Amino acid sequence: MTEDNRKLPVHVSIIMDGNGRWAEERGQERVYGHAAGVESVRACTEAAVETGVRYLSLFAFSEENWNRPEHEVHTLMELMVKAMRDELPTMMKNGVRFVVLGNRDRLSASLNAMIDDCMEETSANDRLTLIIFLSYSGKWDIMQAAKKMALELAEHPEMRESVMSMDTDSFGRYLVTDGIPDPDLIIRTSGECRLSNYMLWQAAYSEFIFTDVLWPDFRKDGFRAALAEYSKRDRRYGKVK
Ligand code: IPE
Ligand code: IPE
Ligand code: MG
Repeated sequence: MTEDNRKLPVHVSIIMDGNGRWAEERGQERVYGHAAGVESVRACTEAAVETGVRYLSLFAFSEENWNRPEHEVHTLMELMVKAMRDELPTMMKNGVRFVVLGNRDRLSASLNAMIDDCMEETSANDRLTLIIFLSYSGKWDIMQAAKKMALELAEHPEMRESVMSMDTDSFGRYLVTDGIPDPDLIIRTSGECRLSNYMLWQAAYSEFIFTDVLWPDFRKDGFRAALAEYSKRDRRYGKVK
């Protein structure tokens, strides 16, 4: 591994924020900003492939976002379907494995079917794993992990010993991100400096970059600039150098 490679994040995650404000600045409806944001998803996915980032995850819709007006929620879901349909050939060409994580019980049957098809078709691709967090929240993730574990223990009381000696890595296997390395870098656009209930467990030692750029304006140059900034960070994990 070269010095440059060592400084490249394996997993970059983006909280894609600011679509509504971007649209409002143009005197348009909020959903116009969501549509424009799809182009930024395409650009950042390409930039990740080009730079050799192995995992790109995108916070697309939070559990809390279900509380938005019905029209906005509906349009966002329609955009997901359209983007999956449109982008599948490019994902196949670029070796992108597509994964959706979140509370899929809340998604429509047709969207779930589409997601399953897309995940299945791209499952053997290995250049970049593109993860879309949909109907996801960090607290929900930790809760579903705890519930899964409690159910397993109720069915198999002999597991008591192994549960009591469990370490954080073992607990992490119950989270929906099982098998995916924790994000090295989390970028949030639009000037908001908060996690908004995203990857609470997995972000324990992530580096953060907050930029004022609104998501529809965040393109390859912004992505590359964030990688450059990350390469200067000194990650210590609580140790002394
Ligand atoms: C991010 O943009 C997209 C989603 C949360 C679905 P917003 O829709 O939150 O845009 P702002 O923050 O209102 O500008
Ligand atoms: C966070 O953005 C969720 C996504 C980007 C999907 P929000 O716009 O929903 O977050 P808050 O409400 O400003 O914290
Ligand atoms: Mg927002």
